[in-house]
Amino acid sequence: MDLATDKNIREAFKRAGHAHVFRYWDELNPQSKFRLLSEAQAIDLDEINKLVAEHVLTDSLSGLSGDKLDGLEPAPYIQHPSKGGDVLRWEKAAKTGELAIRAGKVAAFCVAGGQGTRLGFNGPKGTFPVTPLTKKSLFQVFAEKIKRSSERYETVIHWFVLTSEINHAATAEHFELNNYFGLPRESVHLIVQGLISAVDQKGKIILTAKDSIARTPDGHGGSLRALARSSAIEKMKTLGVECISYFQVDNPLIRIIDPAFIGFHLEEDSELSSKMIPKAYPLEKVGHFCTQGGKTVVVEYSDMSESMQKATNSAGDLHYISGSVAIHLFDRDFIARVGGGEGQAKLPFHRANKRIPFLDAAGNLQNPDEPNGVKFEMFVFDALPLARNAIIIESLRADDFSPVKNSTGVDSPKSCAEDLLRSYARWLIAAGVNIEVDSSGLPVINFEISYSFAADQEDFFKQWNALSNKPDIVDGLVIESGI
Ligand code: UTP
Repeated sequence: MDLATDKNIREAFKRAGHAHVFRYWDELNPQSKFRLLSEAQAIDLDEINKLVAEHVLTDSLSGLSGDKLDGLEPAPYIQHPSKGGDVLRWEKAAKTGELAIRAGKVAAFCVAGGQGTRLGFNGPKGTFPVTPLTKKSLFQVFAEKIKRSSERYETVIHWFVLTSEINHAATAEHFELNNYFGLPRESVHLIVQGLISAVDQKGKIILTAKDSIARTPDGHGGSLRALARSSAIEKMKTLGVECISYFQVDNPLIRIIDPAFIGFHLEEDSELSSKMIPKAYPLEKVGHFCTQGGKTVVVEYSDMSESMQKATNSAGDLHYISGSVAIHLFDRDFIARVGGGEGQAKLPFHRANKRIPFLDAAGNLQNPDEPNGVKFEMFVFDALPLARNAIIIESLRADDFSPVKNSTGVDSPKSCAEDLLRSYARWLIAAGVNIEVDSSGLPVINFEISYSFAADQEDFFKQWNALSNKPDIVDGLVIESGI
């Protein structure tokens, strides 16, 4: 960085009211000066000051409240065939979806830029060992599903993975060390999402060191602008990809390539489709799919009163039953439209009060016990009201959703590994194999079905039936391709 640039950056921070970011400038060695300037240069000061004015200085909390919930209704959804949905319609959708997959029009997109603070794992969450027996990483699980789906549909499914500056190098290393899990190297695309600086309760940018600014990833909603601002959308165009299967890094049960879901999305000419699962209990901490003013929206549980969350209809079913589990299909051109850029629709930022390490007046690092700062994040579901023909289909929790969020208890490595085991048992039982399970469907032995053998239950049925030498299902067995 030359001197003029360096001075310009510092001047810009002064004009924007953040001169304090450079208060240790004269003490810094050239390397530290370079680091601070590089971080500072990446900050959009107009954006930060606008967010501070809207969310910090006015003391407004993000989210919906009071009359902002007016006119809210549960969103309509396409019922699952096992829950009364039209079987023929689902079969037709699956055929439409399969044609699009075979034609190479579908890509996978995993958002893995988060910090995974609740899990407390040292490393990118995607490298967390998750399967019950062989402890494959989350990334390996997804890679095997994508590889198997590519084989099954005789195509190459491209996989886009969102990282952040904080975990990019370690994620790239995990893929390199594992030789991209057998996927063609050129079919895996890592994209880095933006960081946004955190501010204190007066709206001032926080320093975490004399030469470093507190910055956090800009939320899963930032994935759309990361795709739009990188060359990813152009790459997808060149590849002929039109439909993007979005999923979160912490959910190994996800059916990444789901023909019926893709078929409904295409048949309905939707720009953004979502899967819902019925809430497990009234106060489950999930977002709710709703409509408001003719638009589809997701309302966080924290923005709804308890009585709304518990309300039932005349049949005794939950009124707001549709839980959002962050499984979506995006139209490529829709992402280009909402992903940012001048004059285009953008997702709003939300405010989160967080504990953020900071340098005190004496220049010492403090780790506060209470929230002392504000972090800004975009949420991917805020794209829903911007989409044409947003549709929602019903899915079954056991088929699609068991995230690893917490280190113990609900949505933990233990609950997830057990759900994976239950799914293997269900696949075997559906294929006519006798296997002992407890009252929750959990097998009494530990074993694994590799996703390189079958990506989902329907695939397993075919693959298993085609085996001439079927193995006995015993403790420690791994059913994998080439068995
Ligand atoms: P979560 O909201 O669960 O956040 O992210 P997290 O960072 O993984 O975990 P906690 O809250 O710190 O414990 C849901 C998904 O969105 C991705 C995550 O990687 C995860 O797949 N995400 C989240 C991003 O890609 N970028 C972000 O800025 C935030």
